[in-house]
Amino acid sequence: MRTQKMKGVILAGGNGSRLFPSTKVTNKHLIPVFNKPMVLYPIETLKNSGVREILIITSSENIGDFMKLLGSGAEHGVDFTYKIQDGSGGIAQALGLAEDFSGGDNLAMILGDNIFEDDFAEELMRFKSGAQIFVKQVDDPGRFGVVEIDDASIVRSIEEKPAAPKSDLAQTGLFLYDNQVFSFIREIGPSERGELEITDVNNIYLRKSQLRAREFFGMWIDAGTHDSLLEASILAQEAFNPEQLKLRRTKRSLREQPKEVTPKITIGVVTHNSEKYVVPCIESLLVQNYENKEIVILDNQSSDDTLQILEKKFPEIPVIRADSNLGFARGHNQILRETDGDFYACVNIDAILEPNFLSALAKEIERKPIFGSASGKLKHWDYPSYLSGSTSKGKTNFIDTVGIRILKSHRFEDIGQGEVDFGQFDEAREVFGVSGAAVLYRRKALEDVNFKNEHGEREFFDESMFMYKEDVDLAYRLQWAGWKAMYAPVAVAYHDRTVGGKHRSALDLVRNRLKKSKNVNQNSYMNHRILLQKNFSNAFSTDIRSATAWYNLKVFLYILIFETELLGVWWKIFRMRKRIRAWRSAMPRRVSKTEIEKFMES
Ligand code: DAU
Repeated sequence: MRTQKMKGVILAGGNGSRLFPSTKVTNKHLIPVFNKPMVLYPIETLKNSGVREILIITSSENIGDFMKLLGSGAEHGVDFTYKIQDGSGGIAQALGLAEDFSGGDNLAMILGDNIFEDDFAEELMRFKSGAQIFVKQVDDPGRFGVVEIDDASIVRSIEEKPAAPKSDLAQTGLFLYDNQVFSFIREIGPSERGELEITDVNNIYLRKSQLRAREFFGMWIDAGTHDSLLEASILAQEAFNPEQLKLRRTKRSLREQPKEVTPKITIGVVTHNSEKYVVPCIESLLVQNYENKEIVILDNQSSDDTLQILEKKFPEIPVIRADSNLGFARGHNQILRETDGDFYACVNIDAILEPNFLSALAKEIERKPIFGSASGKLKHWDYPSYLSGSTSKGKTNFIDTVGIRILKSHRFEDIGQGEVDFGQFDEAREVFGVSGAAVLYRRKALEDVNFKNEHGEREFFDESMFMYKEDVDLAYRLQWAGWKAMYAPVAVAYHDRTVGGKHRSALDLVRNRLKKSKNVNQNSYMNHRILLQKNFSNAFSTDIRSATAWYNLKVFLYILIFETELLGVWWKIFRMRKRIRAWRSAMPRRVSKTEIEKFMES
């Protein structure tokens, strides 16, 4: 196999209108920055990053001057090739001229007016495919391509010189591309200012989930304006005066070094007539060995002793009293709206957590910004045994859930439910989703997929789902947005719900349904319909579409025979159609259907 190498491209065309009249008779990149022509700085950056073959692209008027200045490259220890750009049709147009030069290799492109303090040898060495941009925090983002990212890796959007920047991160003038870039350049058309924009090319990579961003902390200047050119000269002069540079570096490091603080976890618990569970659950939260945490409870109008117990036993814990029974989704949304933890631990009151549950999950995903949620091994909590004072406190060895799996028919199952735990789930792995019974969500992920409802409030869980399957809907939305879910067996918790065996017969399922209250079945059916309308894609492959249609038909026939009262759900959904449609179209969809399909089991 042919090894990929990285070639360099320096753009030194354009008309330099922002530096007029200095650029009336010469090219911007030949103007001195302190003691040498501007173009020598990006050449140095590429050279220090390990690039040896460099293409200089400039206008026909100035190409001779560049050749005179730079020659073959021998003097600089590199190899120069020159190419003319007729006119100034944009950065992407200029890059398009590098196709023959690239010869199928990857490219590092630098804009000739960009001066970097750092080199990027490591990044260039690691780069294999897709595209990578380098971003920097600035005070005046509107001057640049503005990048919205989560952690220096997941790009949410890039906009070229927006009037209302979504972040203060500028796309700097260093870009790494694989060879797809040339076909993407052919796909785009000129922008309003008549140029082929590099930001449009990057957006194609973004849509294909092939764009990465890296924030860097060294100094960076786009020397394309009079002020920034002066600043670049001062910076370059300081580079020759080590004392001044040291001072500036110290100031900068004091300003820019992020402080090592542990992220805050907000633990949210929703109660409703939960007197029997309050003490064991809350006690297990208080002993979590994670320092930076807060517990917030929302009570959904309990009429039993829940509130009295909370007040007496846990007076230090804030309790939000809802004026009606809001249900699970609205309850948690309200806590989320009123708190600011970096992570949100959503814990059911009928669960108890081992003391390391939250710290283990936080440790697993804190440094893996692609993970939006994590949960651990949830086992069955035998509440009667707990009550009888059993030494095990009712902790059983039966699995409650180790994650949510999605089937091709769009049924969702708790993985492992009812199985004896003999170590078969002892490996951490990625799952489609995690159960809302005890889970750690990354707030950024929740904010990313939130929906602003008709009252202007942000919904993280879908509030049209009173209870049940709202966690599945959230898991599905997180997947579409590119957030992964982690199962980490080191975190163990116990959850009180009747668990069914793995291979239940159709008769068992019917019996089980008939045992449940009408309300439960209605919520569950309605929420399943809502989540399908939001998340299902007609682009899914035929076997998925037919498995789902067949399953839906079977459920419908079942309802016609056994549970006709559920037919009312269709009317409710019809009335919600606008909201569902609005939510569906607001959902970020950054991954391809194949990424989702890979989770679907037969
Ligand atoms: O400096 C970073 C910024 O560079 C990014 O944040 C923006 O997303 C990107 O569009 C670019 O914005 P500028 O407005 O600074 O681009 P400018 O027109 O100044 O061009 C940048 C360099 O590219 C400059 O050194 C000249 C060269 N160039 C430009 C054009 C339009 C060419 O070689 N050919 C061209 O046709």
